[in-house]
Amino acid sequence: MNDFRFRYLSILLGMLVFITSCSSGGGDSEPEIELGDPIANQASEITSSSFKASWSRLYRAQSYLLDVSSDASFATFLAGYNAKSTTSLNEEITGLESNTVYYYRVKAVKETVISNYSNTVEVTTTFVPDPNQTLKKAADTFLVGVAVQSGKLTGQYDENYTKEFSSITAEWEMKMDVMYPSQGNYNFGPADAIVDYGVANGINVHGHSLIWHNSTPDWVKSFAGTDQEFEDMIEDYITTVVSRYKGKITSWDVVNEALEDGSGSLRNSIYRQKMGDDYIAKCYQFVRASDPDVLIFYNDYNMITDQTKQDAVFTMVDDFIARDIPIDGVGFQMHISHDYPSKDDIQKATDRIVERGLKVHFSELDVRANPNKDLTSLSSERSLSQKAKVKEVVEVYNGIPNENKYALTVWGLKDSESWLLNFYGHMDWPLLFDGNYNKKDAYYGFLEGLQ
Ligand code: G3I
Repeated sequence: MNDFRFRYLSILLGMLVFITSCSSGGGDSEPEIELGDPIANQASEITSSSFKASWSRLYRAQSYLLDVSSDASFATFLAGYNAKSTTSLNEEITGLESNTVYYYRVKAVKETVISNYSNTVEVTTTFVPDPNQTLKKAADTFLVGVAVQSGKLTGQYDENYTKEFSSITAEWEMKMDVMYPSQGNYNFGPADAIVDYGVANGINVHGHSLIWHNSTPDWVKSFAGTDQEFEDMIEDYITTVVSRYKGKITSWDVVNEALEDGSGSLRNSIYRQKMGDDYIAKCYQFVRASDPDVLIFYNDYNMITDQTKQDAVFTMVDDFIARDIPIDGVGFQMHISHDYPSKDDIQKATDRIVERGLKVHFSELDVRANPNKDLTSLSSERSLSQKAKVKEVVEVYNGIPNENKYALTVWGLKDSESWLLNFYGHMDWPLLFDGNYNKKDAYYGFLEGLQ
């Protein structure tokens, strides 16, 4: 029997053995059923107490095992959802807590074969605001502030201020150009009205701002006297104002926005020209000499987005701490947008205040919804984006150690009166209440951030 015939017969024989062993159970075992692993889809139909879980169909699967848990490690399971068997491709999970994170995953089953777990899906049930909840009640570890004006402390302003807020800041009437219009002649009318309003309603008053290049009266900018006479005038002004409101005003932005954008170098303001580079420290010492208890803040804008300026501020703060110059906190103004800056960047910058043992004031929060002028009215999608950003800001602030917390202040009550409309000259809706005092999504974002 020649080679070829022998080889052909042995192959034939081999194949025969293989087929018979397959048909008879791998010789002894069935071939492994290729099941594949299911894919869990994003949750849908999410409400405050339920959501629909769903997953992809696997061709050979006969059923699925569904896990639902409130912890990502599935160390515990929701009652009835520990490998719950189902032949369906979705399941409505009900009886859940509002504003709570849940996780689900599935396995596929075919007879005795069980697939690996699918991906895990995270879902948060929607937040149902308690109608009796208010910003100040919900924020039980820090003050919730709002910028006010002396001519708008009655009616619906008053209703909303006393109901929602635990701190007020004068939007413009406690600045030098209003309080000190000419040398030796003070105008405390508007400031008194605001402080008296706060005291009468048990609302904290934050002073803003004693020294600011943008609210310097012309007579100060063109001060004719000597540098020493200028410094004496500033000391007299600070002493007069701080002593007047001692025990009524808890904190002051003593110096506001003293550093240049981009470079972080000291602005060449009249205060620097007349009092020297160390004028900020001198002003802080004047305040401390006038009121041993008032909190002294340095306040500035772009503190999250302008890294050079941020670094410069903390270099200055470290210098003050090293020289025992009185400083109690740093104010991040937080004039931000619905999509910028990131929560992570806000967190990193805020941590730099906390790690120095100082108080944090998010002092002038507004969140532009229309920075690119692409809207003529506030769309629900943009409103939800703004809500998400407000929630992030509040989450960061609420996460600060209590001893470093002070206040989170919004820079105005209602959209229609925001400074941003004049400043940028186009429509925007940057605050928590609309022009008719209605709570916006952003308001609920604030509450959600506190959950
Ligand atoms: O209400 C009066 C009005 O009766 C008068 O007819 C009109 C004309 O003079 O002035 C109106 O007051 C204006 C006030 O805003 C109210 O709108 C003041 O002139 C104007 O100076 C004031 O601008 C304030 C600005 O600071 C300057 O003080 C803005 O409201 C206020 O939002 C803005 O806030 C600053 C912070 O202090 C520091 N960080 C940036 C922030 C925005 O620029």
